[in-house]
Amino acid sequence: MEVEINIAVLASGKGTNLQALIDTSDLGAKITVVVSDRPDAMALSRATTADIPTRVVAWSGSARREQFSDALGDEIEGAGADAVVLAGFMRVLGPGFVARFRDRILNIHPSLLPSFPGANAIGQALEHGVKLTGVTVHFVDEEVDHGPIIAQRAVPVLPDDDRERLHARIQVEEHSLYPEVVRAFSNGEIVVEGRTVRWR
Ligand code: GRF
Repeated sequence: MEVEINIAVLASGKGTNLQALIDTSDLGAKITVVVSDRPDAMALSRATTADIPTRVVAWSGSARREQFSDALGDEIEGAGADAVVLAGFMRVLGPGFVARFRDRILNIHPSLLPSFPGANAIGQALEHGVKLTGVTVHFVDEEVDHGPIIAQRAVPVLPDDDRERLHARIQVEEHSLYPEVVRAFSNGEIVVEGRTVRWR
């Protein structure tokens, strides 16, 4: 399979979305580095098992968000990556980072945006009592969980759902949607026009 682009994956936690990307043989992208803000992130061990280089950039506090984002950007470019895939990365990136990788940062969020942005999207959906929630993959802009929407999948909320059960069903969709989007992006099939994203 021909590799179209090099990507950096940023992850803070379990890394099941990273694993889904690793396991996709026709991704059209090479993961050249996995970067985390947490040295104990399971995502880093998944990368190491797959022979992907890893880096840790420790969170330096919100007063130093730009410095943190610059250090991340340097690691990403140093690894030769052209694009950034956020897979459960729990830090907000500074505007300098967004400008540096404009329209080249993807994020996955466990709700149908613009509903329930921010942390605890699943808890918010349950508390609100929605019957349908889901997954959104979007480009990252200066606002949290706000950039142009690339793809969405709906997931019904069932009467006996708790956070864990609902998240598990959302993750099933994430693990097929994110590789699909990254593949299309890598092949140049995704075009951003203002807030609208077109699939060619
Ligand atoms: C996912 O549910 C994703 O939508 C959210 O964080 C979670 C990361 O899960 N942004 P994992 O670490 O990939 O398992």
